[in-house]
Amino acid sequence: MSLLQQNISLKPYNTFRVAAQSAFFSEVFSETDLKELLGLSVVKQHSLLVLGGGSNLLFTKDFEGLVVKISIPGISSVVVDEDVFVTAGAGVVWNDLVSYCVSHGFAGVENLTLIPGTVGASPIQNIGAYGVELKDVFYRCTAYEVATGNKRVFEFDDCQFGYRDSVFKNELKGQYIITEVSFKLGKHAKINTQYGAIQSELQSRGIDKPTIADVSAVVADIRVSKLPDPSTIGNAGSFFKNPVIEKGLFDQVVSDFPDVVHYPAPNAKIKLAAGWLIEQCGYKGKVVGQTGTWKNQALVLVNHGSATGQEVYSFSDEIIKSVYLKFGVRLEREVNIL
Ligand code: FAD
Ligand code: EPU
Repeated sequence: MSLLQQNISLKPYNTFRVAAQSAFFSEVFSETDLKELLGLSVVKQHSLLVLGGGSNLLFTKDFEGLVVKISIPGISSVVVDEDVFVTAGAGVVWNDLVSYCVSHGFAGVENLTLIPGTVGASPIQNIGAYGVELKDVFYRCTAYEVATGNKRVFEFDDCQFGYRDSVFKNELKGQYIITEVSFKLGKHAKINTQYGAIQSELQSRGIDKPTIADVSAVVADIRVSKLPDPSTIGNAGSFFKNPVIEKGLFDQVVSDFPDVVHYPAPNAKIKLAAGWLIEQCGYKGKVVGQTGTWKNQALVLVNHGSATGQEVYSFSDEIIKSVYLKFGVRLEREVNIL
């Protein structure tokens, strides 16, 4: 049985490294632990927050309920003809899963190298990077309903994946705890180098027939050059989503700002690079008190040491207002605010 603790500091459990306390805290290492925990009265009496690596959230205050840290381990795989089905416990570190797949020659997750966090959180916002999203390799996941303790398997179609979105952020928000995720990968690599920086980096290394290990190594190096390492500077990656806007609004923006960085998006919409919008407002590398934006990536808000969650949140408000005033585009936060 997992231990139920009280008044625990959440600072070691969030990559922004902001201070916050949780009234109750429990770490679960198995489905059995979780089922027992869900039967306790503390779950019925308090709000619940599921925590993986804490790399996509910002605490703006203490959490008065129960934090459940998911640490369910284990990776296994089964080969079926040309496919490989890999299953991992929700507490497995995402990049450990990627390393396992790359070292076994299982293709599909190499572009997602070095994304922080856990396997269990990967379907929540449909993690994505360098031309690949979780939905491209997702097979199914197992989850427990908080209210009843019932187990449910979510197939691909149940998850309603979108850009940084899924059913777990909408209708089912806070209702299920994911314990295991299965991925459908390939025995033969279909290398995806559509994201320009990967192609040019491979070329500069003289690699014209890349393996998945080459792609993984290149993605890792590009990421390290752009993004702050949470072990030395607190952050939660991109603080905002890249805004997806209607063509009418895009036409207005592009007529005033012909250089606006943009990409085609589904349903004839256009995705703008939020980092570019924020940089144009003069915020790249800006330091405001203990918070600010990262010097190499304006989309990433950072904690320079002792920022509070409130301070970071207020700064993000300032950025939203500034971008709206200049471009008429409203940024939406990607990071979960608590
Ligand atoms: P947490 O932050 O602990 O939780 C995030 C949300 O998921 C919360 O709402 C939480 O309640 C819920 N949750 C977590 N585990 C479970 C579970 N088992 N069951 C149910 N709900 C759960 N993201 C990308 O998509 N692409 C990137 O390229 C990327 N780069 C990043 C770079 C840096 C430097 C950092 C710090 C973050 C980056 N992120 C990126 C964001 C982050 O890595 C992902 O969102 C990741 O999936 C969060 O995992 P986590 O375990 O830390 O989740
Ligand atoms: N840009 C700027 N200034 C900046 C930052 C970016 O002008 O300060 C412009 C550049 O022109 C660049 C373009 O924006 O070409 C895109 O930048 P980048 O390739 O760094 O990617 P991004 O759109 O800013 C997204 C994801 C990242 C993911 C990368 C790589 C979102 C919200 N962010 O960032 O995910 O790693 O693409 O695929 O979609 C995260 O979610 O936490 C995250 C880091």
